[in-house]
This record gives sequence, structure tokens and C-alpha cells, in this order.
Amino acid sequence: MRILITGIAGFIGSNLAVRLIKENLKTEAENRFEVVGIDNLSYGLRENIPEEVEFHQLDVREKNIYELFEGVDVVFHLAAKNCINDCQLDPVETADINVTGTVNVFEAAKRAKVRKVVYAESSALYEGTDVFPTPEAEIKPESVYSISKLSSMYFAKAYHTFYDLQFTALRYFCVYGPVQDYRRTIPPVMSAFIIKLLKNESPVIYGTGKKRRDFVYIDDVNDFHINCLNNRRTDNKTFNLGSGINYSVLEIFELASELLGKRIEPISKPDLPGEAEVTLADITEAKKLGWRPKTDIKTGLIKAMEYIKSEMAVRRV
Ligand SMILES: NC(=O)c1ccc[n+]([C@@H]2O[C@H](COP(=O)([O-])OP(=O)(O)OC[C@H]3O[C@@H](n4cnc5c(N)ncnc54)[C@H](O)[C@@H]3O)[C@@H](O)[C@H]2O)c1
Repeated sequence: MRILITGIAGFIGSNLAVRLIKENLKTEAENRFEVVGIDNLSYGLRENIPEEVEFHQLDVREKNIYELFEGVDVVFHLAAKNCINDCQLDPVETADINVTGTVNVFEAAKRAKVRKVVYAESSALYEGTDVFPTPEAEIKPESVYSISKLSSMYFAKAYHTFYDLQFTALRYFCVYGPVQDYRRTIPPVMSAFIIKLLKNESPVIYGTGKKRRDFVYIDDVNDFHINCLNNRRTDNKTFNLGSGINYSVLEIFELASELLGKRIEPISKPDLPGEAEVTLADITEAKKLGWRPKTDIKTGLIKAMEYIKSEMAVRRV
């Protein structure tokens, strides 16, 4: 099976590539995955990509990605501008990458007769909801980022209806684990706490810290990605990928401090615009396929910490 991953140098894409290559070790030669990757390296790092991958440094908005889709069976489209705050600051670039770029990927897949595109939506589509846990039907996007992801949803449906392109839409909640970016100006909350605590600096808490997030560990998400390849019941459906449990930002701060044995007073800053108060996934649909998130928050957080510790040792960040 030939798999193409966009955004392969990023957190989820690189972890998926590593997982597919690990699966190859357990598989007969003729059934192994060939992995092709595209990334413009705007956020992701070249070194995150395993050497077995055929990598192309390209932008998903370019037409010269089309030829790479020839002979591909399944595409994972993960490239995106994806920090809610960055997207609020630049709606035009957000639409350009997340809408035009996504349509260009669907078009490339259509032209090459790819069987299916698995693509990233987001729990941000539920920003305005007060239904918890939130099922897939409860769409209430508000921020620039979530509106861009909503557009992907409609285009996926149009490509299915008019061009018979199969899709699976994945609404990731807060995915965490090794390789998650800790360098960007406002990193995802867990990485932000871990890097600051390890450096003996004060982590920043935006708003009251009472916002609650559903965190799901990357290996569990990858279990579902494998399901998307093998199980036709994932075709033309949308799935929440969360753990079904949420924690407040303050609880995560306390847990990270406890696990690292550090006591450092956090700095308070005003709330970031566009961020929902609560996320909590209703994962009934994914569970119907036999999928279960297996990693508890402590185990996952420890693994995320080990990654950042090893990065600090190698890079002296
Ligand atoms: N990580 C999460 O918790 C989470 C939650 C909800 C949704 N998502 C979605 O999942 C996908 C993957 O997220 P991630 O956490 O791995 O993000 P990431 O930022 O780590 O990876 C995204 C990758 O896309 C690349 N990229 C950006 N613009 C590009 C372009 N125009 N052309 C080619 N490559 C480009 C970046 O260089 C980066 O390597 C994204 O679509 C994101 O919106 C992630």
C-alpha cells in the first residue's frame, strides 16, 4: 500500500510515518507500506521524518504535488496552519493553506484516482457548543481556524458526491506526546508547561486556567489511523478522536509539576481569543469500530516529558 502524508514533518504526521514503518517490520514484504511525505517545513522539522520515507519539500497549495499522488492508495492530509491564535492573526493565510491547500490535495487525489483521503478536522469545530461530551453532529465553529476546518468538511463531501473520492474526517481533540512542538511562540499547553518547568522558568497560564481539555495520546490516535487503512467502515465518516476524559489547564500544570518534582509559580496572562472553555469528546462512533484510547494521562505525560528532556540534552535548548 502506498501512503502519502502531507504535513509529515509535523507532530502527528511524523509519528504516523514512524508507526507505518514499524508496522512494516511485522509484515510480509509484499504487504509493506511505502510512505511518501510532503511538507513545506514551515513548522515541522526535516529530522522528524524517518529516512525510509520518500520526502518532498513542497507546499500543499502548489500544482506540482499532483504527480506525487500517482499510484498512491491512501492520503493522510495533515498539513495545516493550526495554532488558533496564529490563525486569528492571519485569516487570509489560514484560508489559503487550510482551505485552498486542502482543496488542492483533494483535487490531486481525485486526478490520481486515490482510493481515500483521511484528513484532519478538529475539536475546534465544537467551540460554541454546550453539549458535553460532544458528538460529531454538534458543529458550532467560531474561530478563523475552525471555520477553515469546516470548509474542508464541505469540500470533502463535494469531492465524494461528485467525484467519488472516499474520505475519513478525523476530529482530533488535544493530541499530545513525543515530537509535539515545544518551540513555537505559544506551544500546545503540555509542551509549554514541560519546557518551562524543565528550564526552571515560570510557565504561562492564559485566563483562569479553568479551561478543560480532552487530551488523547498520539499512539492511540495512530491506532485509529491504522483502522482507517484497513476498515472500510471508516469510509465517508467522521470520527471524534479524544479520550472522553478532560482536565483543566491548572490540573495539567499541577500534574506536570508533581511528575517533575518542581514548584514554580506560573505567570498569568489574559485569555487567548477563540479558545473554547471546555472540550470533551463523545467517542461512541470510534468505539463502535473497536477502538479504545489506552494511554492514561500520567503515562502519556511522562513520555512527552522524556522526549523534551532528550531534546534539551541534544540541542541544549
Ligand atoms: N495536534 C493536535 O492536537 C491537533 C488537534 C486538532 C487538529 N489537528 C490537526 O491535525 C493536523 C496535524 O497537526 P499537528 O499537531 O501534527 O501540526 P504540526 O504543526 O506539528 O504539523 C503540521 C505540518 O504541516 C506543515 N505545513 C504547514 N503548512 C503547510 C503547507 N502549506 N504545505 C505543506 N506543509 C505545510 C508544517 O510544516 C508542519 O510540519 C493539522 O491539520 C491540525 O490542524 C491537530
